[in-house]
Amino acid sequence: MKVLEHGMIACPPGFVSRPMLKSDLPKVLEIEREVHFTPWGGQAFLDAMTTGDVLPVVLANKEVAGYGVLKILWREAELLNVSVAAPWRRQGLGRFLVATLLQAALRHGAPQVFLEVRESNTGAQILYRQMGFEIIGSRKAYYACPEGKREDAQLMRWQEKGGASAA
Ligand SMILES: CC(C)(COP(=O)(O)OP(=O)(O)OC[C@H]1O[C@@H](n2cnc3c(N)ncnc32)[C@H](O)[C@@H]1OP(=O)(O)O)[C@@H](O)C(=O)NCCC(=O)NCCS
Repeated sequence: MKVLEHGMIACPPGFVSRPMLKSDLPKVLEIEREVHFTPWGGQAFLDAMTTGDVLPVVLANKEVAGYGVLKILWREAELLNVSVAAPWRRQGLGRFLVATLLQAALRHGAPQVFLEVRESNTGAQILYRQMGFEIIGSRKAYYACPEGKREDAQLMRWQEKGGASAA
């Protein structure tokens, strides 16, 4: 991944990144419904936008191809959502979005970032491990599944190298 001056990360070639706008919501919600069994609704995104969460989007041909949501807490942050529309996967957008969110966490004074991921979601787990997250636990029956079933979550943590738990 290309790192620019001042540590900024380059968006993959052919894509553009900027903060999410209200006008992105129709396309964001369409992707959200396509990729998640329990998708966020519009209000959840609006709340995130107004409470200081970090919400980057990546655009392909001026249309949203992917997005992420990071909640900043006291000296830690929670990665709540990373989604890339199916046609745009495996082109580095997930990696770019996670890197952007980790950089935002550090900028906001949060040297560690937590997330939950479905146990069956091995693609996302590979991505998160590549980005430096490690499994620190699990949450039993955390996610809803079809037919009323439940699925465990893996709890993962990323820590700034040489920092974090000393705080
Ligand atoms: C998980 C997700 C965000 C990955 O987005 P992406 O843009 O395809 O990810 P990238 O192209 O940056 O992938 C980076 C690396 O992660 C790994 N990876 C990503 N998806 C993978 C998959 N389905 N299977 C195996 N490895 C995968 C690969 O090592 C990949 O590198 P490579 O393409 O050079 O092999 C995307 O598949 C998605 O939106 N899934 C549905 C929503 C979701 O599960 N979000 C995460 C939980 S909230």
